Amino acid sequence: MHPIQRQLHSDHHHLLLVLNCLSKEIDCFDFDARQDPDMEVILNALDYVREYPDKWHHPAEDIIFNQLLAKKVKESNLIKKLEEEHGKIIQETEKVTRLFRAAADDCIVPTNELVDSARQYISLQRVHLEKENEFIYPLMDKLFSPDEWKEIENKVKIQNDPLFNKPSKREFTQLYNHILELEKEKEN
Ligand SMILES: [Fe+2]
Ligand SMILES: [Fe+2]
Repeated sequence: MHPIQRQLHSDHHHLLLVLNCLSKEIDCFDFDARQDPDMEVILNALDYVREYPDKWHHPAEDIIFNQLLAKKVKESNLIKKLEEEHGKIIQETEKVTRLFRAAADDCIVPTNELVDSARQYISLQRVHLEKENEFIYPLMDKLFSPDEWKEIENKVKIQNDPLFNKPSKREFTQLYNHILELEKEKEN
């Protein structure tokens, strides 16, 4: 597997871990939850999404998807839809971040608005990456020649994932440890 493709794959795995963590915090807003939601974890998770998947992962996919569209693959309509969703996801990350920042700054934001928008956002992200995993990612292996990967390499410069690969900020180290603990709890 080409290193760019490998990184995109592990991005999906990592993004799912972040979404699971976010989803668990959002469940803490339920009236019968045993724990309070941790606003810091929520805001750090959203910061990560803005800083890495929204900045690198989706734009890298756009370049690869356009290369697939040029091949007139039968999945073209789905690819176009997924490209459109990238724009929507980026906008939604901003919107959800604004809402949670306002709530963290003691502005009055109704809880149901926070919970509904976060759940819709998580679902948009999950469905999007599942479709990519199932229908589009397998095409890369099948259809790109080494020369085409060279072309892609010239346009897509691999970036460091600031959460899962050498966390660059204290907030991300905390979030990383939190995610590890969650995963350990699941195993037990
Ligand atoms: Fe995508
Ligand atoms: Fe993706």
